[in-house]
Amino acid sequence: MRTSFDRRDFLKSSAVVASAVALSAVNYKRVMGANERLRVASIGTGGKGKGDLTSVAKSPSVDVVALCNVDSSEQHLGWAVEAYPQATTYADWRVLLDESKSFDACIVSTPDFMHAPVALPAMSLGKHVYCQKPLAHTVFETRQMQLAAKRNNVVTQMGNQIHSHEAYRTATAWVHQGKIGKAKAVHAWQSGNPKWRVAVQRPDGADPIQSDLRWDLWQGVAAERPFKVNIYHPFNWRHWRDYGTGQLGDFGCHILDPVFTALKLGSPTSVWAIAPAIHPEIWTDSSTVRYVFPKTEMTEGATIPVTWYDSVGVRPPRDLFSDIPDSYPLPSAGSVIVGTEGSIVIPHVAAPKLFPEEKFSSTELPKEIGLDHYVQWADAARGVGKATDDFSYAGPLTEAVLLGTIAIRKPGETLKWDAEKLLITNSEQAQSMISKPYRSGWEPKWIDF
Ligand SMILES: NC(=O)c1ccc[n+]([C@@H]2O[C@H](COP(=O)([O-])OP(=O)(O)OC[C@H]3O[C@@H](n4cnc5c(N)ncnc54)[C@H](O)[C@@H]3O)[C@@H](O)[C@H]2O)c1
Repeated sequence: MRTSFDRRDFLKSSAVVASAVALSAVNYKRVMGANERLRVASIGTGGKGKGDLTSVAKSPSVDVVALCNVDSSEQHLGWAVEAYPQATTYADWRVLLDESKSFDACIVSTPDFMHAPVALPAMSLGKHVYCQKPLAHTVFETRQMQLAAKRNNVVTQMGNQIHSHEAYRTATAWVHQGKIGKAKAVHAWQSGNPKWRVAVQRPDGADPIQSDLRWDLWQGVAAERPFKVNIYHPFNWRHWRDYGTGQLGDFGCHILDPVFTALKLGSPTSVWAIAPAIHPEIWTDSSTVRYVFPKTEMTEGATIPVTWYDSVGVRPPRDLFSDIPDSYPLPSAGSVIVGTEGSIVIPHVAAPKLFPEEKFSSTELPKEIGLDHYVQWADAARGVGKATDDFSYAGPLTEAVLLGTIAIRKPGETLKWDAEKLLITNSEQAQSMISKPYRSGWEPKWIDF
């Protein structure tokens, strides 16, 4: 077996140096001044996209000029047409990008598998991008997102909005202030029951396609499949490897985010997982994923282990936390950073707590204020301030999360990761999962590196 792979071979063998989805527009990037208004397009206006759009539109300096959705029903596009009647509407994001002179920035709130195929050409046209989490569907796409943001010098923000929440900001500040000393280990978990587990295997047959849905456009870069009601669109696409990234992909970019910020993590050197074997087209219903990251200024020892757990009702074993009493109920989702001088519990969107309790109970601990994740991005795109969750930060976080989803598909194997070369150096099969095949005619145009 080969133990290392050449990156250029990989680029070629994955057929990733491919022609672009037809786009005739040239780069219409405007250099903006602080007094100028930002013209925003929303791609994927339903589901989370509704919140993304209304939150960005709260900025008094934003004009919503374009709305794009493959589903024109009230819940998906209709509500937005009523809210922003001046905006031009589109079913096909490629047509929107072809008319790229009309907008400066876009919000990408499509299902995971369509983030990079939409955001990459948008960035190459000079558009600032707010993109939902996880940044992309594969590790390779995630790296491309970082390269495109840098090359085109556009303002980016990933949609893990809790990054700006006072709870996560306070937790990371306390760690940076040295409250728990140096970190020795991290345990993070999600115990919720996903509503999107809709089938145990691919259902047979086809249902009539609802009249307001452009199913062919919804499928985008993915393999063509028959339409089935409530199996894929909306929301339940998360269950399927073709479209989503499972529970780790869905929540890892939230729950591991304060861990990344607090400990200044970059790329892991290895990842290992246990997960039950289930149907190969769907994501597992439980996993434990163990990453090893190299030492940082915030950690103790040569490496730091970060362990992720997901399954219904799961918590990390209590005996891992000697300074957290058993009487303290661990939250249903969150993380614990175990340090040399204490531990911090960071619940998924609630106030953090430091242990041992007696050490921290006598002092008033400073709290950080929350920031507006959405308006921050719109302002930064106008040249005012900075986006704090741009793709240079969100990229390595997403790469680590998605590496975990590869380990879940190769349970029991320790996968060695060379981040610089984008190579899993000890498994050709795992390396093939860094990217994926694309529907003919829909291949994104990649940046060679
Ligand atoms: N940050 C968060 O807290 C949070 C919460 C929920 C979802 N999300 C993320 O938001 C994204 C969407 O998730 P969701 O739950 O809203 O999914 P969803 O299926 O409910 O909504 C997706 C929307 O995009 C539209 N759409 C699909 N493909 C499109 C395309 N090619 N062009 C234009 N429109 C398209 C759909 O019609 C729908 O309106 C995912 O990446 C998900 O991970 C983030």
